[in-house]
Amino acid sequence: MENFEYLNPTRIVFGKGTIARVAGLVPKDRPVLMTYGGGSIKRNGVYEQTRAALQGFDVREFGGIEPNPRYETLMQAVELGRRENVGFLLSVGGGSVLDGTKFIAAAMRFPGSEPWDILAKRAKVEDAVPLGGILTLPATGSESNGNAVVSRESTREKLAFYSEKVYPRFAILDPETTFTLPPRQTANGVVDAFIHVMEQYMTYPVNAPLQDRQAEGILLTLVEEGPKIMAQPDDYATRANIMWTATQALNGLISCGVPQDWATHGIGHELTALYGLDHAQTLAVVFPALLQHQRARKAGKILQYAARVWGITEGGEEQRIDAAIAKTEAFFRSLGVKTRLSEYGIAEGYDEVAKRIGARGSALGEHGDIGPAEINAILALCAA
Ligand code: NZQ
Ligand code: ZN
Repeated sequence: MENFEYLNPTRIVFGKGTIARVAGLVPKDRPVLMTYGGGSIKRNGVYEQTRAALQGFDVREFGGIEPNPRYETLMQAVELGRRENVGFLLSVGGGSVLDGTKFIAAAMRFPGSEPWDILAKRAKVEDAVPLGGILTLPATGSESNGNAVVSRESTREKLAFYSEKVYPRFAILDPETTFTLPPRQTANGVVDAFIHVMEQYMTYPVNAPLQDRQAEGILLTLVEEGPKIMAQPDDYATRANIMWTATQALNGLISCGVPQDWATHGIGHELTALYGLDHAQTLAVVFPALLQHQRARKAGKILQYAARVWGITEGGEEQRIDAAIAKTEAFFRSLGVKTRLSEYGIAEGYDEVAKRIGARGSALGEHGDIGPAEINAILALCAA
């Protein structure tokens, strides 16, 4: 096992009727800025529940944060927050609102003139306004991690940052808020969580049996609960299982002491930036192709995954690897998520993805050996 340091400071408040708990978690001494997205919270009662809980607080609002939150929009909230002397940020919505709020938190206290540097130049976040979240979409794990992904419309870039300063102080996870998710977003959430586990698991063995089994436990739960949630979206028990599972997939636990990949996300973010695909749609396209391309490098872990998650134990090694890749792709498709670029009408021009990643000087993969040529080969496999 590799050395590691682990800290997760986020308090999770989980279950039915827990939005009211926000009153005891948000400090009252300064104005609170409540952030939200395009209006789903106004249609499903989450907005009313939150406002009712915050009676007596000095609450300002900033709505309209888009899916794949935009820098241009977020900077308006930064101005508002500074002007109103906001002391706490409360995100109410999905991963995009929460990521956007993390950026607002960091940008409000950023000493330089250009907070975009936090993303583009990896400028260190020394301080951030404290924040908390009421989550309405299980997928990203943003509710208990220090990551945020922000897009810039003017340059069509989508970039991530990490800082310990932007972990939410608390995350309220009420599975009932997820009943109103459209099937596409529910399926996206299952795929995103699945791939988060894969990026931390599907590398090479380092004798970390606990982390492996934790990861496989999350994968197996998604394989079991995913189809149930698509068939019965109003089943509380399944919604609850999916919500807790998605949090566990990216809260830092399963990556302790093991190598990580993140190539699927690296390529996927460019596909969203260039073509506007949903985050999880890009992952379902890229991951099976990445497995195919990296099948020799990842053989040990693919065979373990094949046996423990899909029960594939018969046949030669190559056959079992083929079967595991096929099962993975079929799982995404069973949720209604497409797995080929051509299904999104993308037939050419995708070499821009490799150019952009290459220009940033970053090589992807757990060995750092997935460069532009390999990315093009992976995308050719997705296109087929
Ligand atoms: O904007 P509103 O009106 O709220 O509607 C949203 C949005 O249209 C809607 N929605 C959310 N909760 C709902 C609901 N509709 C009905 N009922 C509800 N309860 O769903 C749509 C998508 O929301 P969004 O927040 O964009 O989805 P998600 O949570 O999947 O977040 C995706 C973003 O997170 C980033 C992605 O790149 C993408 O920008 N990621 C963040 C990560 C992190 N912070 O660790 C890791 C991930 O890998 C990912 O990159
Ligand atoms: Zn993701």
